[in-house]
Amino acid sequence: MFKIAVFDCKKYDIESLSKLQSDLFEFKYYEVRLTKDSVGLAFGCDGICVFVNDNVDKEVIDKLVKYGVKAIFLRCAGFNNVDVKYCFGKLHVFRVPAYSPYAVAEHAMALLLTSNRRIHKAYNRTREFNFSLEELTGMDLYGKTVGVIGTGKIGRIFIDICRGFRMKVIAYDPYPIKDSDIEYVSLDTLFENSDIISLHCPLTEETKQIVSKQSIAKMKKGVFIINTSRGGLIDSKALLEGIKERKVGAACLDVYDEEADIFYNDKSSHILDDDILRNLISMPNVIVTSHQAFLTHEALSNIADTTKENIEKFINDELNPTNEVCYHCGKQDQCSKNRNKKCF
Ligand code: NAI
Repeated sequence: MFKIAVFDCKKYDIESLSKLQSDLFEFKYYEVRLTKDSVGLAFGCDGICVFVNDNVDKEVIDKLVKYGVKAIFLRCAGFNNVDVKYCFGKLHVFRVPAYSPYAVAEHAMALLLTSNRRIHKAYNRTREFNFSLEELTGMDLYGKTVGVIGTGKIGRIFIDICRGFRMKVIAYDPYPIKDSDIEYVSLDTLFENSDIISLHCPLTEETKQIVSKQSIAKMKKGVFIINTSRGGLIDSKALLEGIKERKVGAACLDVYDEEADIFYNDKSSHILDDDILRNLISMPNVIVTSHQAFLTHEALSNIADTTKENIEKFINDELNPTNEVCYHCGKQDQCSKNRNKKCF
């Protein structure tokens, strides 16, 4: 039996993964995140299953290889937390490229609507029988310009949702969709003209801190910034400054660059050491959710199903394991994937 250690495992993960029936593999569930300190739990396993905040760096990879682990199965699409290049030739890495782009795009819109119409404030007020409307004024979304950075699966759905509100959409993506009706503009044009900016690109060297002191300076006064992608896309210190200077009108954050030790945990009895996050949360025009955009029943079920498929394809050594990540090995001419094979 192929044994898989599942890290950063919550009750809802166990519920969806335990529904999978297979004679080929079994899961060992661990609530703890994967780090250099917890990697020992993978001893005796053939594979590991990880999520967005598990840290698969060189040190962890070396230990996994030493324990005889052969593959990493991500329960998510993004893989910026895995040193994929270092994995090449050592550990196969599989991901779930799409589980519910609707879940994430809908959450982005939920954050925008909540923030703009101050629903979070109104909810708290009426619960205390405070029926005042002071400071609850929002803006019509109709006719506003939304700038979408990244027009992949999630970005495109978010665009459709915005169009339903009859907003004007402009977008930036270095790989624009051919023959689409999306109006692509340069990044600077997007920063200068958007009333709302929503980030839907992966975290890479190019996109790291795409929202920075410099880019905020180019934005419209009062701009709304939505981030449901990865925390590292925003320089949080610069965002906080932008809010304090009244340049940024609102921030809707489902992700945060230092979220790993904070999100997904109940910290309500702790003193939060992260001053920037504490300050951001204290602002009346900032909404933070705890990396929950993916969290729908449909997404959890799709994650479980694709993970099972990835594991079984790996165990059965099936050709064309489409969900193996690209390690950018540089061997274009001899790319195994092009020959419907595993990468190594
Ligand atoms: P995707 O791969 O379908 O689309 C990403 C798009 O970003 C592509 O069109 C790509 O060309 C574009 N892109 C690449 N480099 C860029 C750059 N320098 N500037 C602008 N665009 C660039 O990915 P998908 O499924 O739409 O997901 C987007 C991101 O959403 C993921 O990378 C992940 O970080 C995040 N995500 C967050 C979740 C949450 O629960 N908050 C859940 C799932 C994904």
